[in-house]
Amino acid sequence: MYSSKSMISGLTWMIIMMMMKIQECRGCTFSERQGLLELKAYFLSLSSDIHPDIARGWRTTSRRSCCSWRRVKCDLNSKRVIGLSLGDLYQSGFSDTLPLLNLTFLYPFEKLQRLNFSKSSLGGLFDQKQSYKSHERFRHLEILDLSYNFFDASVFLFLKEVVSLKTLFFGGNCIDGGFPVKELINLKNLELLDLKLNNISGHLPGKELTNLKKLKALDLSENLLTGLCRLEQLQELQVSQNRFVGEIPFCFSRFTKLRVLDLSSNHLSGKLPSFISNFKSMEYLSLHDNNFEGLFSLDLISELKELKVFKLSSKSSMLQIAETSATTGQKYQLRTLTLSNCNLSNIPGFLRYQKELRVLDLSSNTLSGAFPTWLLNNNTKLQILLLQNNSFNALELLRLHKLQFLDLSANNFNQQLPKDIGLMLPRLRHLNLSNNEFHGNMPSSVDTMEYLEFMDLSYNNFSGNLPRDLFIGCYSLKWLKLSHNSFTGPVVPRSSDMTSLMTLIMDNNMFTGKITNTLRNLRLLTVIDLSNNFLTDLSGNFLSGRLPLRFDSDYGYILDLHNNNLTGFIPDTLWKGMSTPSIDVVLLRGNNLTGKLPAELCGLRSLRMLDLSHNRLNESIPSCLTNLSFGLGGDGGNDPDWYPANMFSNVMDVYTEEYYESLLVSERFGLDYSVDFKVQVEFSMKQRYDSYMRGTLNQMFGLDLSSNELSGEIPEELGDLKRVRSLNLSRNSLTGVIPGRFTNLKSIESLDVSYNKLHGVIPSQLTMLQSLVVFNVSYNNLSGAIPLGKQFNTFGEMSYLGNVFLCGSPTNRSCGAAISSRGEEGSEEDESGLIDVVVLWWSLGCTYVTVLIGFVVFMCFDSPWRRAWFCLVDVFIERVRYLLGVI
Ligand SMILES: *[C@@H]1O[C@H](CO)[C@@H](O)[C@H](O)[C@H]1NC(C)=O
Ligand SMILES: *[C@@H]1O[C@H](CO)[C@@H](O)[C@H](O)[C@H]1NC(C)=O
Ligand SMILES: *[C@@H]1O[C@H](CO)[C@@H](O)[C@H](O)[C@H]1NC(C)=O
Ligand SMILES: *[C@@H]1O[C@H](CO)[C@@H](O)[C@H](O)[C@H]1NC(C)=O
Ligand SMILES: *[C@@H]1O[C@H](CO)[C@@H](O)[C@H](O)[C@H]1NC(C)=O
Ligand SMILES: *[C@@H]1O[C@H](CO)[C@@H](O)[C@H](O)[C@H]1NC(C)=O
Ligand SMILES: *[C@@H]1O[C@H](CO)[C@@H](O)[C@H](O)[C@H]1NC(C)=O
Ligand SMILES: *[C@@H]1O[C@H](CO)[C@@H](O)[C@H](O)[C@H]1NC(C)=O
Ligand SMILES: *[C@@H]1O[C@H](CO)[C@@H](O)[C@H](O)[C@H]1NC(C)=O
Repeated sequence: MYSSKSMISGLTWMIIMMMMKIQECRGCTFSERQGLLELKAYFLSLSSDIHPDIARGWRTTSRRSCCSWRRVKCDLNSKRVIGLSLGDLYQSGFSDTLPLLNLTFLYPFEKLQRLNFSKSSLGGLFDQKQSYKSHERFRHLEILDLSYNFFDASVFLFLKEVVSLKTLFFGGNCIDGGFPVKELINLKNLELLDLKLNNISGHLPGKELTNLKKLKALDLSENLLTGLCRLEQLQELQVSQNRFVGEIPFCFSRFTKLRVLDLSSNHLSGKLPSFISNFKSMEYLSLHDNNFEGLFSLDLISELKELKVFKLSSKSSMLQIAETSATTGQKYQLRTLTLSNCNLSNIPGFLRYQKELRVLDLSSNTLSGAFPTWLLNNNTKLQILLLQNNSFNALELLRLHKLQFLDLSANNFNQQLPKDIGLMLPRLRHLNLSNNEFHGNMPSSVDTMEYLEFMDLSYNNFSGNLPRDLFIGCYSLKWLKLSHNSFTGPVVPRSSDMTSLMTLIMDNNMFTGKITNTLRNLRLLTVIDLSNNFLTDLSGNFLSGRLPLRFDSDYGYILDLHNNNLTGFIPDTLWKGMSTPSIDVVLLRGNNLTGKLPAELCGLRSLRMLDLSHNRLNESIPSCLTNLSFGLGGDGGNDPDWYPANMFSNVMDVYTEEYYESLLVSERFGLDYSVDFKVQVEFSMKQRYDSYMRGTLNQMFGLDLSSNELSGEIPEELGDLKRVRSLNLSRNSLTGVIPGRFTNLKSIESLDVSYNKLHGVIPSQLTMLQSLVVFNVSYNNLSGAIPLGKQFNTFGEMSYLGNVFLCGSPTNRSCGAAISSRGEEGSEEDESGLIDVVVLWWSLGCTYVTVLIGFVVFMCFDSPWRRAWFCLVDVFIERVRYLLGVI
């Protein structure tokens, strides 16, 4: 009895074991498992930096069926691998040559239906065994994602016979030429084709494309294409950001199946065609950012029952929206409406009957009068309201629980802010009220806006102190811009640890007091502009101690305190304790700073621009300044370039919910607070100032120590600032000679040592400085012959005035017999004597560097290409960083 029982239990056990065994056998096939491991080994051989999903997840020792490995998908029944998702393969880019993908490694996966290699830094495909016949191996492939690699059109040679393909993502590669029509034409089953961001140029081969009978969705945005027609069967067409010109072609009238049409950001012009009213299935219609003109009647779209998103704006300012009485009968309920730059003088009446609106953009019209409170009353779901660049003049707010973005900038509001603004807009994340005439205090209720991330109140007449708890209550604030108002009191009334502030722009106000420790706690602060205020003391050394380095401190800091009333020494502590001193720009011009230049300055190796002019600094110039990034000692020639445009993109992209989604379009609203630094360099040229726009900060390196009380000799080492473009030492008491080593200033465009006590000759080798545009040695005790040749032939007399012992052209003093032959050149009329001394003084001036950091914040609708673009930029940056060995 007992034995039979144990026999049964043993048997049961065996059966269970066997079933488990079978189960295990039913995992992916051996060859597929091997294939995955080989694939991994191959990836590893290219770079050890592969994604942990694969690095750790795919292991020889793993007991689990490879069907359960990450990024592998098997068919439920056959247990064959049908999906491989190998996107984002590498965590950093490749240094020199891009890896090619060995297609042979994919042979084991005969049943593959989905393959994803997006963002994998691949440069191409190859197949040693079957060459371009690889397609025989991919008979089941339906979805292929190769987006954001570095493929060119040659990749299609491997794909052109993969007729099973239904979806091909190829955006963000480098096709760079005509539309790859021959390569794609055999893919008869293609339904979705995404070739955005590929620099494809030329005419769209509409006729050939009609062979792709099943094509439903085509994304060609961000290319250089022109001309399109014939693709009548399309349901989705995305061709934004191309070069389509002229009127919307009549052939479009046959595109009646369209659900999504995005023609935005082209150069389309003329009148909007009336056949728009035939697009009965249309859900998403974007025509904005073109050159349309003439009258557009909203009646044309009133019958489009399915319409959810409509966007129209014109670059030409010649578009006029018309609304007839019938407009109350709109059949649609929109979620997003953009009617920007359409010369609208009244808010369209049909909006009274729209109950689903999430996004409303009526910016850049001629709307005037009181803020449309009724609009808010009946649109309780509204999240985004953009009314900037109109002429509204009276603001009255309702309690709006849902509103997240409000832009009322550039209107005519001339009033105080509603006291209870914070309570009315409890969910607000973005507030732009700049360029109005708001006055009075910032209401203290603002400090209850805990979701606020961005606030721009610049260019108004606000006054008074900031609310005491601004930085405590608004703890989400990342971007605060208050410039050009009359705010008073301390910059940060009460400190807070919680704040996420990254950018603080408060220039041109009347802030007073010390820069105290309060700023120190703003851990993410990257850009500080407090210029043109009445701040008095740096000694609170707000940058001392544990200076909060941003986790990705690639971008460094910008510190602009010019034109304040800062007194005393430049405290060492300003930069002491910074483990990686990554300040990029320091502007302390026009203060009352005294004492010597602290040697600690030289520790700021990433410094690109240092302006300490117009202070009372004394003693000598430290020779270690060559450690700065523009010298030899710093990061040398290979520090990573800045990517200021990308500065905030990762951090500051703010997305709201999705408003519309289709195969190609995923409509959300986001703001990308990218920063565009524009550097304006002003060189004094003769009697006028010429300003040069010299690109972005990326290329700008400058040192300005002018108008101080510096003495001693010019350290020879300054000649090693080989990347410096502007060096200004004028108006000090420097002695000694002009160092011959200045010939190493290979990038110098402006060199000014005027108004010092220098003697000796002008080193003749300076004529080798090829970029030199401005050269000023006037009012020193220099002697000898002025060098001639190359750039030096372009410098006039002004460069040399006040050095009685200088001779030769362009002065009228000859250098004695040896070079008297040049005397003729030098004996031109001396007109300088006629010029008023004061004028001269000013006109000679000194070369000075003004940095205008214009924060151009791009605001745009989020769309896949934009996010994609930033992904691409990220990859690119990574690659460059890697390339430069900075990692
Ligand atoms: C491919 O993978 C990337 C992430 O690596 C993902 O964003 C993308 O949506 C995937 N593509 C498809 C078609 O699923
Ligand atoms: C490509 O893969 C095949 C087999 O998987 C291998 O024999 C061949 O050597 C590989 N080629 C290169 C260049 O790695
Ligand atoms: C895009 O293509 C044009 C010519 O078709 C070429 O001049 C340009 O350099 C290309 N741009 C990029 C980024 O490859
Ligand atoms: C804008 O609209 C006004 C009337 O509302 C009209 O007088 C003016 O001509 C329009 N401007 C353009 C450029 O269409
Ligand atoms: C403001 O709107 C006008 C048309 O009303 C337009 O011409 C101008 O470009 C807009 N300005 C900005 C900064 O958008
Ligand atoms: C709000 O909508 C209702 C219809 O739902 C309408 O009767 C009313 O006039 C609207 N209110 C305003 C202020 O337009
Ligand atoms: C705020 O409004 C001003 C004026 O319209 C504009 O220049 C600025 O770019 C806006 N800022 C943002 C982040 O939208
Ligand atoms: C610098 O300080 C002196 C006295 O200490 C004062 O007279 C002068 O106005 C100050 N300069 C500036 C620019 O504040
Ligand atoms: C600047 O500071 C000096 C001394 O600290 C003071 O005398 C002067 O009034 C201040 N100037 C301004 C404009 O605040």
